[in-house]
Amino acid sequence: MKNKNIKPVLKWVGGKRELIPDIRVYYEFLNPNKYVEPFFGGGSVYFDILNVLGDSHKNTSIINDVNVDLIQLYRDIKVSPNDIINCCKELEKEYHKYGYYHIRSHFNGVNREGVVVDKYSGIIRSSSLILLNRTCFNGLYRVNKKGLFNVPQGSYKNPKILDEDNLFKVSDNLPPVEQILNKQFDNIDDINKGDLVYFDPPYHPLSTTSSFTSYSGNFGEEEQLRLMKYFTKLNNDGVYVLLSNSSSPFIKSIYNSFNIIEVYCRRNINSKSSSRGKIPEYLILGDYVKKHKF
Ligand SMILES: C[S@@+](CC[C@H](N)C(=O)[O-])C[C@H]1O[C@@H](n2cnc3c(N)ncnc32)[C@H](O)[C@@H]1O
Repeated sequence: MKNKNIKPVLKWVGGKRELIPDIRVYYEFLNPNKYVEPFFGGGSVYFDILNVLGDSHKNTSIINDVNVDLIQLYRDIKVSPNDIINCCKELEKEYHKYGYYHIRSHFNGVNREGVVVDKYSGIIRSSSLILLNRTCFNGLYRVNKKGLFNVPQGSYKNPKILDEDNLFKVSDNLPPVEQILNKQFDNIDDINKGDLVYFDPPYHPLSTTSSFTSYSGNFGEEEQLRLMKYFTKLNNDGVYVLLSNSSSPFIKSIYNSFNIIEVYCRRNINSKSSSRGKIPEYLILGDYVKKHKF
């Protein structure tokens, strides 16, 4: 499916679009049995895999994320793209009439004053996630301790909620709905020798003041260590593994037996614009890369 140019439906924190050329170098020569992405998020690497390795991978790939609303959205896009489009149009009217916080309140089932309101479910819930993502501050996804989506309104005059053509392409190119999973990253059955797995977990914070800290919330050092052990196990089983993370000393130390590449990406990790710039991130390479001559 060369040059299909599918765009992710959502902006997602840690989105990999800018880094794809650096990551692609380590899979474009492979002929994996199947592709697995345990931390799917916005899924930009998946769409590149279809482009580079061939769109038959859409039949065999497994995509997964622990975020239940995100995964339900992808399942709904796969099965009922027309319903999502129609529902987004209705919600857009409500957004223009009643505003961002009206939609956010119904997504949460409680308004800003703490009063319980009808909670969106089904297709309307999935569609509202698209609308919130397009209209909230910086396209962030963040929930508070009670699990309520608490990102404030963004400052857009006339935000574009949906690209219909792109949504149909996404629907057509997602894996079958049974292969769109909502599990812990290390609970995916059926990963075998000759499969390719790309891990893009919440990043370990570079410093305790870094705004990544709040995002990494319940993905602390214990989870990073669990992930490293799982990555090592799959590597030893002959799975082609790749993993992105921040360039923190902790990450360097736990993956010290692997080849670690530095890649550069522009990210707003600090609210002071003067400190925005290109910062290194790590790409950790499975042993299969050593066997390939660059
Ligand atoms: C850095 S983002 C992935 C970004 C993605 N590669 C992209 O290009 O948009 C990390 C994702 O991991 C998910 N996640 C966090 N903890 C998880 C866990 N324990 N198991 C599976 N997914 C998890 C989050 O919901 C989030 O979508």
